[in-house]
This record gives sequence, structure tokens and C-alpha cells, in this order.
Amino acid sequence: MKLVSGIEDVRDWVSSHRARGASVSLVPTMGNLHAGHRALIRRARADNDIVVVSLYVNPFQFGPTEDLATYPRTEAEDRAVMLEDGVDLLFMPADKVMYPRGLEHQTRVEVPHLGSILEGSSRPVFFRGVTTVVNRLLNITQPDVAYFGKKDYQQMVIIKRMISDLAMPVDIVGIDTVRDGDGLALSSRNSYLTPAERRIAPALHRGLCRGIDRLKHAHPDLDRVENGVVNDWTGAGIEPDYVSVRRRSDLELPEVGDRDLVILGAGYVGTTRLIDNVEFDVDP
Ligand code: PAJ
Repeated sequence: MKLVSGIEDVRDWVSSHRARGASVSLVPTMGNLHAGHRALIRRARADNDIVVVSLYVNPFQFGPTEDLATYPRTEAEDRAVMLEDGVDLLFMPADKVMYPRGLEHQTRVEVPHLGSILEGSSRPVFFRGVTTVVNRLLNITQPDVAYFGKKDYQQMVIIKRMISDLAMPVDIVGIDTVRDGDGLALSSRNSYLTPAERRIAPALHRGLCRGIDRLKHAHPDLDRVENGVVNDWTGAGIEPDYVSVRRRSDLELPEVGDRDLVILGAGYVGTTRLIDNVEFDVDP
């Protein structure tokens, strides 16, 4: 596995492989790799000649009160995992490579509306930071395809919209959420949970699944279903932020006849904010 931190180094390396006709993939990460990230890497490995992984804790997507300073950094372990999973190139840029003029002067990429609903209403600067950094990572690495987890569903939908709006020549592939045995979606932020909180956290996924069940079998009324999840979460000791049933393609409210849906939510387990979602289809 080759390790590079400069833009020209990535470009030269990738173009030498492209010149021989190799297909190139990118898996963007902030490190602290777990089985969720590894599912993306393994899929990239299976489907492409070249796998590039970026590891960069992007300061631009953290709000002023968020966990940039304490975000888990486990570079040595991450490198061992990447080696094991057959990553070809690890791109680990410093802040001055990603934002040479500083954050204030960085050109921003913003997806309006889609970036301000759901997660965006609780985390106003988050998606602007994500789209700005992913745009730059894609332009630096120039992959044929990039992989994103459905765990961060809105992030995946927003990246697809950015690619479409900016006519960027890259395919985006979404990968199913990897969960622990009790249903909790794997996340670097799970490490913030105390043992007692960790026992509460699976209620997040359980609540969403029960919501889908109620929607399919009992009440087709979305408000009642969403409130049911809120009540389940509250009863389990999770403080809800939002729960919402949306259309998968654009995260708008479903209209009569829409069948491809997703229920998304966020809640606090202690002081840790966790998100989750489950895709589902409604029968005709
Ligand atoms: P990070 O949280 O490190 O996640 C990197 C990728 O792994 C994302 O596409 C995320 O959706 C995916 N992922 C995380 N947990 C997962 C799980 N349990 N199952 C499946 N996929 C999972 O998301 C980011 O970093 C950043 O916002 C980034 C896109 C790198 C931009 O900075």
C-alpha cells in the first residue's frame, strides 16, 4: 500500500494506472475504521483494479460545538486494516493541502434545500463541509467510482445530487449499513457511549423497524408512525431529535403512489448524538 499526502503525488500515481486501463475507485473516510468502512473498501476491492482510500478528519464539516478535537484518531490501526483489505493507495492530506487558503477563503460547494433539511437543520454547516471536501477529494483522485455508506443516508443522497448538478464524471455506489448483532449501526461515535448507554442504543434501530411495521400493517398515517417511534425511543431512554419518513430518491415527503421510502432519525443517547435509517418499500 502506497501512502501519499500531496495532490500531485496522487494524480501522478492514479494517472499511471489509468494509462494502462485500470479502473479506479475511491472510498472517502475520516478514519477510525470499523466493519462499516471495511464493507465499502471490500466492495471497492472486489469491483475495481485500484482502490484509493482517503483518510482526512475534515474540519469544515464540524460545527463549533461539535467533536472535531475529540474525534477518534487511530491511524496505525487504520493502516493495518487497509493493508489487510488490499487498499492500493492511502491519501492522507494535511489541512494545508485540503484548504491551502484556510477555511474562510475556501470555495464552497453547497446543495441547497437538501443540505438544510433533517440532519442539516440540526447541523447547519455539516453538509456544506461534506460536499466541499468530497468535491475536492474527487477532483484530486479522479476515480471512476466512489463508495458511500447508507448509514449516512442523507450524505449519500446529497453527494449524488452534487455529482448530477455539477456533471461530475463519477459513479456513486451506496453500501448497506453494517450493524452489530443487536442492531446498532456501527459508527465511530459509538465509542463515546458508556456501557449503560451502549445497552440503550439498539433501541434506535428497533424503534425505526417497529415504525415501518406499524406503517405497513396498522396505520398508514405518517405522523402517527413517526410519533410512535419518538415514544419508543423516549421510553427506552433516547432523546429524539427527529424521526421522518421520506422518499428515498430526494428525501422529500412521500406522496400518494411513492413506494421507495426510508425512515430516518437522530437521537441523543446521553450526550452522544446517533443517527440511523432503514429503507423500505410500500406495496402497491
Ligand atoms: P466516515 O464517518 O469516516 O464514514 C466514511 C464512510 O463510511 C461513509 O460513506 C459512511 O457512510 C460509511 N459508513 C460509516 N459507518 C457505516 C456503517 N455502519 N455501515 C456502512 N457504511 C458506513 O462520512 C464520513 O466519514 C465523512 O463525512 C466523509 C464522507 C469522509 C467526508 O469527510
